[in-house]
Amino acid sequence: MRFGYAFLSIALFATGAAAADYKSGEPPAIARDALAKADYVKGRAAFQARCSACHTVGEGTDLAGPNLFGLFARQVGTKEGFDFSPTLKNAKFKWTPGRLNAWLADPKTYLPNNNMMIPEPVPEKDRLNMISFMMVESGAADWPRPVIANANAAADTSKPYSERYPSFWNHMMFNTVRYAFDREGQSEYVIDVYYNPDGTVSSNQKGVDGFWHIKEGGPGPAMFCYALKGFDVEPGVMVECIPIAAMSIPRFNERLWKSKGYKGQVINGGILPGRPQQNGGAEKQKSG
Ligand code: HEC
Repeated sequence: MRFGYAFLSIALFATGAAAADYKSGEPPAIARDALAKADYVKGRAAFQARCSACHTVGEGTDLAGPNLFGLFARQVGTKEGFDFSPTLKNAKFKWTPGRLNAWLADPKTYLPNNNMMIPEPVPEKDRLNMISFMMVESGAADWPRPVIANANAAADTSKPYSERYPSFWNHMMFNTVRYAFDREGQSEYVIDVYYNPDGTVSSNQKGVDGFWHIKEGGPGPAMFCYALKGFDVEPGVMVECIPIAAMSIPRFNERLWKSKGYKGQVINGGILPGRPQQNGGAEKQKSG
């Protein structure tokens, strides 16, 4: 868990977004009809991919971010028991769909110096659906809950992971994960690792391999867990679990998260697009 959140808290921002301080006025309201007619399933998928690593939206607990149940009935930064940044504590407004839309369009500067640190704005095509989904789940919708066949694809355990967690699958099974071990006084130890659809892990270094699996069914979010061995650095093994949702947001950078290695050593983790052709397993699955 700690590892997953550490990853998120150092995620990179998209830069250059135009500043849109909330004080500059009430953002445009979103018509109730548009929200009531929005696509709940797409909204849920977007929320799961971008928010659920840090937030529950139904009645639930705080994760790295506050629980969002009842969001549209409360003042910003007031959820009891959650330690908000001064920015959110001092902002004086009640959450509305329009306010949330404005923040998600510009998560870095709409509430300057907030702690949310999401890596990038939510694309416009996802925002209405996501806000509509959040209204239903947080108890704010005054329209009936949409009736959806197979409402929770991830819960249907007869389906393969590729269908239950499609964005996680596409991101992790076809790209390269790079770990860089910072070693005091020595050069960095860098290794590229490939998570394969059959649950194995291979790498670009002889002797380094491992396995991965998905851990679900507990009170927390579904987790992606892996064990790797054979590193040329002490202690030679690494075992970690990260929320699947956190590994589902496609983004590429050599340094996306940090974790603690052996004796205070820092391991930087990142994801690079694609992987070498000779690592055949994933390529086959992709077309099949
Ligand atoms: C990396 C973890 C993380 C992710 C991912 C994340 N949040 Fe947050 N969120 C936080 C934190 C931390 C805060 C408190 C921010 C502060 O105090 O400045 C917060 C605060 C909020 C609040 C304000 C709640 C209140 O009571 O005032 C809303 C609304 C919110 N997030 C919505 C979202 C949505 C929607 C997404 C997905 C697009 C999302 N968050 C993704 C961590 C996250």
